[in-house]
This record gives sequence, C-alpha cells and structure tokens, in this order.
Amino acid sequence: MKRENLLLFLILLLSMPAYAQEGIRLLHGPYLQNLGSEEVTIVWLSDKPSVGWVELAPDDNSDFYATERPRYFDAKNGVKNTSTIHAVKIKGLKPGTNYRYRVFVQEVLSHVAHQVIYGYYASTDVYSREPLVFKTSDPANKNTSFAMVNDIHGNNDVLEKLVSKCDLKNTDFIIFNGDMVSVFNEEKHIFDGFMDTATRLFASRVPMYYTRGNHETRGAFATEFQRYFSPKEENIYYTFRQGPICFVILDTGEDKPDSDIEYAGITVYDEYRTEQAEWLRQVLDSKEYKEAPFKIVVAHIPPMGGWHGNLEVENKFMPLLRDAKPDLMLCGHLHRFIHQKATKETPFPIIVNSNTAILKATANPTELKIEVIDVDGKVLDQFSVKR
Ligand SMILES: [Fe+2]
Repeated sequence: MKRENLLLFLILLLSMPAYAQEGIRLLHGPYLQNLGSEEVTIVWLSDKPSVGWVELAPDDNSDFYATERPRYFDAKNGVKNTSTIHAVKIKGLKPGTNYRYRVFVQEVLSHVAHQVIYGYYASTDVYSREPLVFKTSDPANKNTSFAMVNDIHGNNDVLEKLVSKCDLKNTDFIIFNGDMVSVFNEEKHIFDGFMDTATRLFASRVPMYYTRGNHETRGAFATEFQRYFSPKEENIYYTFRQGPICFVILDTGEDKPDSDIEYAGITVYDEYRTEQAEWLRQVLDSKEYKEAPFKIVVAHIPPMGGWHGNLEVENKFMPLLRDAKPDLMLCGHLHRFIHQKATKETPFPIIVNSNTAILKATANPTELKIEVIDVDGKVLDQFSVKR
C-alpha cells in the first residue's frame, strides 16, 4: 500500500466510530428526587452507555450561556459512572432558592485498559426553550401545598387527568403513594407505566416523593427500584420537610405473608418492617419531627383491611404513631376512599385515597386544608386540621 493510501486508510479507520454511531439520545427524565432545603437528586437516562453530568446555574437574569456553569458528575468513589442511567445528588444549595439546570450525557464507545473513546453528547435544551428550574424547599416557609396520587397501575390517562386538577405552578411537590405500576419486570414498565407522563407534566421541575407500594415490590426488576427512586439515599423510607410540614414516608412492603406463593420465596418484609419500626421510633422522637407545626405520615398499605400487610402496619407502626400523634396519615392500596376520623384510640385521621382521585393540600402554620377530588372533578372530601 502506498504511503498516501495508508494515511487515508488510517484516517478513515480512526474516524469510523464517529461516523458509525447513530448519536446518543436522552431517553427518560430528567426528574427530581429527594429535594431538600440544601440538596436535590436529579435522575435521567440515555439510550447508550454514557457518562453524565448536571450543569447548574442561578436563576438570575444571566443567559445560561453567559459563562461555563459548574458541573456535577454522576460518579461514585471518585470514578465517573458509565451507564444508561444517571443520578447526581447536588449538595450545598440555598433554601427556598430557584436553580436552573441542564443535564448532559456523552457516549462511551469503548473503554479498554486506560484508553476510553468517547462519542457524541446529548443534553436538555437551554437554547430554544427555557432551562429547567427547580426550587429548594425552605423549612422557614410559612406555607406549602402538595398533591398525592396512588394506585395508578400504569394508567397514564388517569394520572394525567388527576394531575390536571392541580395548579402545578402553585404546587410545591407531588407524592406518589405506591402501586404506580402493577409489576416491575423491566425498566420499560417504569417509564411507559407513569414516569414519562410524570416527567412531561411536572417531574423535571416539581419534585416527586415516592412511597413504594406493594406492586413495586413484584417482578424481576423490583430489586432495581432504588436505582430510579431515592437513588442516593440509604433507604426508601425517609423523612422530608416542606414549609410547616414534616413528612414521614414509610415503606409498608407486601400485603400477604412472606411465605405466600405469589412472592416465590424472595421476600423478608416482616423483618424489614421490624427494622423500619425501630427507625420510625427514632424519627418520631427527633427534633425534626417534634418541632414541625404539622406532621403527616405516608404509607401505602393502611392499618385497616385484615390482610397480613394491614396487620403488620397495625402491629408494628400504629402503636408508635398513636403515641407520637401526627396530624394525618395518608394511605392507598384499597382502591376506594375512606376517611377514618380521629378517635380516642387513634388520635389522628387516616385518609385512604382511591385509585381514581387526587388529594390536594395546603398548609400554613395554623391550618392544614385537605381536599380530595375524583377524576371527574367531583369533590369527595374537604376538611382541615387546625392548631
Ligand atoms: Fe397496593
């Protein structure tokens, strides 16, 4: 081969990866998780293995392109994560502050020894549309508002109709109280089932807090749940504060005994709920819980119903809650609406929201107002808790 031809061949060979690739796309997200007063987690997915990062900009009058924005890489133990799913937890933010952001991926074409070949980039758009924005929470905020849906079971139409009952510009966050799909067998079930709709409607801007239901615990993909939701947290039961409300999010597991044929011997929820009860005991004794003007407990499986899961909630969580007296407990699971009023034995109301209704709430330091609206816009319930 002549020298010129050899050179041309080498140039073609080296340029092949760039020409051979079809490009890279953002496939799902970004969506917000575990938003707090000084931190947020952002999750997004690409169609090819990539490294990923978030660029963060203040929500001032500057153009997003005014300067190079700080980058927060998806990395663990100092090494950037090559994956189709990315999650970044950004810390050190200011409470009650808007931030603009853009997520990036860059394809990793090959990684052999210490040579990495990178491909194309993809990012969210900050040129032809307004950059995505989130607002950190602020415990000093006197007011907050939120909405809750549950038991959607992959019905995107119902999810969209219910979320349309909210004024999203004046809703600080949304709670998904479990059973958003019927089975977790593959990633597609998450995004086809509800999360692409949630992202399109609000989840890139308005944070969503997830309470796992029993159906998210089923299927071969169930063990992957935390890669997508609360990915940077220790557990998927947690607390958070928004304005005057401290929320306690429980994970009530499955509804039948662990030995049931339906779970094929893969679950140990009794043990898990016992461990969680110990965590709950500490949370209910914490300053964070005690000093909040209002306290709301969120649990997918309610304490009533008589199945093993209901009885576990009754036996392991309810005695602690009866002592700690939250203002409200929000459940789902039963696919029907129940408002169990406070009694001498259980000194707080329990709302079981149905699969076709949305619970909307506003709070100030002296009043928590609740409204439950069904998919046709009919008001099913309205009440308030006063200080
Ligand atoms: Fe359920």
